Amino acid sequence: MVPTMGYLHAGHASLLAAGRERADKLALSVFVNPSQFGPNEDFARYPRDPERDAAVAEAAGVDVMFMPEPGAMYPPGYATWVDVPDLAKGLCGASRPGHFRGVATVVAKLFLLALPSMAFFGQKDWQQLAILKRLARDLGFPVEIIGLPTVREPDGLALSSRNVYLSEAERAQAPALQEGLRLLRDWVQSGQTGAAELTARLRAWYGQRIPLGGLDYLEIVDPDSLAPLDHVGDKALAAVAMRFGRTRLIDNLLVGRG
Ligand code: PAJ
Repeated sequence: MVPTMGYLHAGHASLLAAGRERADKLALSVFVNPSQFGPNEDFARYPRDPERDAAVAEAAGVDVMFMPEPGAMYPPGYATWVDVPDLAKGLCGASRPGHFRGVATVVAKLFLLALPSMAFFGQKDWQQLAILKRLARDLGFPVEIIGLPTVREPDGLALSSRNVYLSEAERAQAPALQEGLRLLRDWVQSGQTGAAELTARLRAWYGQRIPLGGLDYLEIVDPDSLAPLDHVGDKALAAVAMRFGRTRLIDNLLVGRG
């Protein structure tokens, strides 16, 4: 199964291709999940194109496509939630309270409807992936959660359905998000390992290179527990979220020395 919110792009298609290769039946869900959007977020204007999504699905060899209406997933009186609070409190969870509770809940419901043996998710949403792995383990879902690398534009910008919101000037600066993370990884390789110094240095660089962006967070964390690190050892993830006007973009990179 490949759960999505639709407006499918090559990142989603890479998950479908991996599923097609590894499974004999491939299911895709397209559902803009209202419970993972905050009251001031972009639920109403989130881009939607079900006809194009159906064409992408067909080309990818999808066997079953599931596109429920919100009322079918959340009937009147709906009151049950799945939450992984320890992993949801930092990074994106800090500025999007309730977001990961909505994600965990809808994915649990989708798993129960489809009962997949494997489910494919992108590493672009690293925190989401970590939460869903823990959810599947803790509740004993008989599903293997598989994370796949981020698909990028040639200039390094991670593909996202939200990239269509960017102005031309914002789009021109957005690739520096990933460029900066790669610089930070270089600084680690050349011996700088203090997380506070590394993030301060990259913050300054972002300020110069992305004047249109407002930094939401830049953190170096343990890739599994998502706990903030003081020093970069073998395993570390640098994660960033930046606002361009009302659009919020995220990216991450493994920057450990291992
Ligand atoms: P959505 O943003 O549509 O993403 C669906 C899946 O595609 C997620 O696993 C996401 O990590 C992956 N993805 C997005 N951009 C990618 C890229 N550039 N490269 C590789 N994979 C990419 O994430 C969600 O929907 C929702 O939160 C969902 C899990 C469906 C629950 O509603």
